[in-house]
Amino acid sequence: MELGVNIDHVATLRNARGGEEPSVLDAAIIAQRCNASAITIHLREDRRHIKDEDLKEIKENIQTHINLEMAATKEMQEIALKYKPYSCCIVPEKRQEVTTEGGLDVYSQEDYIKEYIKPLQEAGIVISLFIDADEKQIVSAHNCNADYIELHTGAFSLAYGKENEKEEFEKLKTGAAIAQNLGLKVNAGHGLNYQNVHRMHEIDGLCELNIGHTIISRAVFVGLEKAIEEMQELIS
Ligand code: PXP
Repeated sequence: MELGVNIDHVATLRNARGGEEPSVLDAAIIAQRCNASAITIHLREDRRHIKDEDLKEIKENIQTHINLEMAATKEMQEIALKYKPYSCCIVPEKRQEVTTEGGLDVYSQEDYIKEYIKPLQEAGIVISLFIDADEKQIVSAHNCNADYIELHTGAFSLAYGKENEKEEFEKLKTGAAIAQNLGLKVNAGHGLNYQNVHRMHEIDGLCELNIGHTIISRAVFVGLEKAIEEMQELIS
C-alpha cells in the first residue's frame, strides 16, 4: 500500500493571507523527497485552495505522479488535457460543501462519465473514480472503463471508534473485493488519519491511500517531512 499525499491544505493556509507562503510547490518537493507515490491536488471550481498556477508549477517541477482531483466539467477536462497529470480522480463537487461529501454518482450518469473520461484516457491519463463502496456504483465504474476506483472512506472515518465502525468497514472491504473481481484497481481516501488508517491493512489489495488533512495538520507541529514519514510507516 502506498501513500499519495494531498497538499490542498497547504494552499488553504497560504490563501488565508493571500500571499505566497507556505509554498505549495515546496510541499510537493518535500512529498517527492519522501517518495510519496503521488502528489494529489484538487482543483476546485471555486479555486478555494489549489489554483491553476499551482498545477502548472507542480507539473513543471515535479517528477512524482500528479493525481489531479476534479469535477467532471468541461473546464476541468480542458485543464487536464493541457497539463496531462499522471492521473485524474473524478470527484463530485458542490460549491457549498466544506470538503467532498459523498462519492461520485456514476450509476445515474454512466454514459456521461464514460464519454467524459474517454479523451483523458486517450491522452494517456489514468482515470480513477471516487465512489462510495456501493455495488452498483462499482459496477458502473467498471462499465465506464475506469482504471481505478477510489473508495470514499469518509463514512468509515466518521464511524471509527463508534458503534457503526464495523458496518462501515465491512462496506469498504466488500466493495474492494467486488471491484477487484471486476478487474478494477482500488485506492481509498478521505478522512483517514493516524489513528484509523491501520484498518486499511485489513482490506486486501488496496493500492494507494490518498491522505491530506491529517498530514498537513500534523506537519504544523512536526514538519511535513516527518508527518509524511510517520504516515508511511503506518501504512507500509
Ligand atoms: N481523496 C479524495 C477524492 C478527496 O476528495 C480528498 C479530499 O480532498 C481526499 C482523498 C483526502 O481527504 P483528507 O484530506 O480527509 O485526507
